[in-house]
Amino acid sequence: MEKQEKRGKFSSSLGFILAATGSAVGLGNLWKFPYIAGQSGGAVFLIIYIIFVFLLGVPIMIGEMAIGRKTKLNPIGAYKTLNKKYTFIGVIGVVGAFVILSYYSVIGGWVLKYITAYITGNNITDSTNYYQSFISSSIEPILWHFIFMAATCFIVLKGVSAGIEKFSKVLLPALFIIIIVIAVRSMTFEGAAAGIKYFLVPNWSDIDSLPKLGKVVVAAMGQVFFSLSLGMGTMITYGSYLKKGSNIQKSAVLVPIFDTIFAILAGLAILPAVFAFGFEPSAGPGLLFETLPKVFSSMPFGIVFGLMFFVLVFFAAITSSVSLLEVVTSFCIDNLKMKRKTAAILISIIMALIGILAALSFGVLQDVKIFGSTIFDSMTFLSDKVIMPIGGMLMCIFVGHIWGVDNIALEISNGGVIPFKWKNLFSIIMKYIAPALIMIIFISSLFA
Ligand code: PFF
Repeated sequence: MEKQEKRGKFSSSLGFILAATGSAVGLGNLWKFPYIAGQSGGAVFLIIYIIFVFLLGVPIMIGEMAIGRKTKLNPIGAYKTLNKKYTFIGVIGVVGAFVILSYYSVIGGWVLKYITAYITGNNITDSTNYYQSFISSSIEPILWHFIFMAATCFIVLKGVSAGIEKFSKVLLPALFIIIIVIAVRSMTFEGAAAGIKYFLVPNWSDIDSLPKLGKVVVAAMGQVFFSLSLGMGTMITYGSYLKKGSNIQKSAVLVPIFDTIFAILAGLAILPAVFAFGFEPSAGPGLLFETLPKVFSSMPFGIVFGLMFFVLVFFAAITSSVSLLEVVTSFCIDNLKMKRKTAAILISIIMALIGILAALSFGVLQDVKIFGSTIFDSMTFLSDKVIMPIGGMLMCIFVGHIWGVDNIALEISNGGVIPFKWKNLFSIIMKYIAPALIMIIFISSLFA
């Protein structure tokens, strides 16, 4: 009989907060946030986003961390332990991790490709051509995607404190330093003010009709779930490695605050420079890989900034992909009694294979459409707009109506040791506000 793997643990609260922030801060902040803000009315989006972070993000994060710490299990094991009938909520999470990581790693691979370009002295002057021909080719994107997945697997193999926590402790501070340097550089270009204004001063006339407002609200909610890694059990998994006695309320407020500060810094690093050099902020997913290299190649020491920037994106992406792989790995360890090494490698291989479909959907598979969208777009739609909000909504209903606010409050307050002052507000949000809001936004997104 194989010996049962010993469950991992974060060595300190700080380690946990950094790892959870590492999960939250990722491609969502650097790649998605600036372009979604660019397409959704700049500052108007930012305001709605911040409201959702506090109204939905913080309570849902408290809920997930508490479920994890209480049960000390992965999402499937956790729901099964609390109430067998609701195991399916955990299943949604694990499936979500599969879907997200398989396309997330493709973009992570693109980042590695750009890092090597800058290292080898390529200033990517013709970025439109460079980007288009790279993403539409058949071999290279798959290769880089595999390398990114292997790097993710390497960290997860090392375990919770010696892998995830250790890497986060080094990479997270580095991330904040690099983004501040780039934001300062970006904001001091001549003409940068237009970008700062666009990002921070709301232009309500952009949102002059209900459908337009609806679109921004849908985008903001999807982004909150994605950016805070919520609705699919990542924070349940990380919470399960928390020591008893740690302060969940503090962590669940700090992580969203750090994530939001980072998203704002990312906007300030990217949009002012884009405006200063006369490019379009609403370029969509190409903003990072097509527009920004143009900015870098037009500025002094562009190669250095380009390299620094894409290394930053890589650090951010890998600390997030690690959390996605950990969700499924922990399920295999807890429930299927696998060894960490076997689980992490096996899951990585499966995810790498599924990711091939996402990698090829900008090239040979671009005409394969599911309800009119490419495979890649369908995967992002499924994760951001369906799995994460629905998972989050079910979690709130479960906590509010099934497991019960009194029970979770006991866990959150460490049995009454740390007062849970917001209990009544938390209860109303979990029971009514969050489920209703998510439902309304979800249904409207299907018709948008
Ligand atoms: N929060 C990550 C980002 O912003 O890039 C993405 C992510 C990681 C989503 C982990 C979901 C998750 F469980």
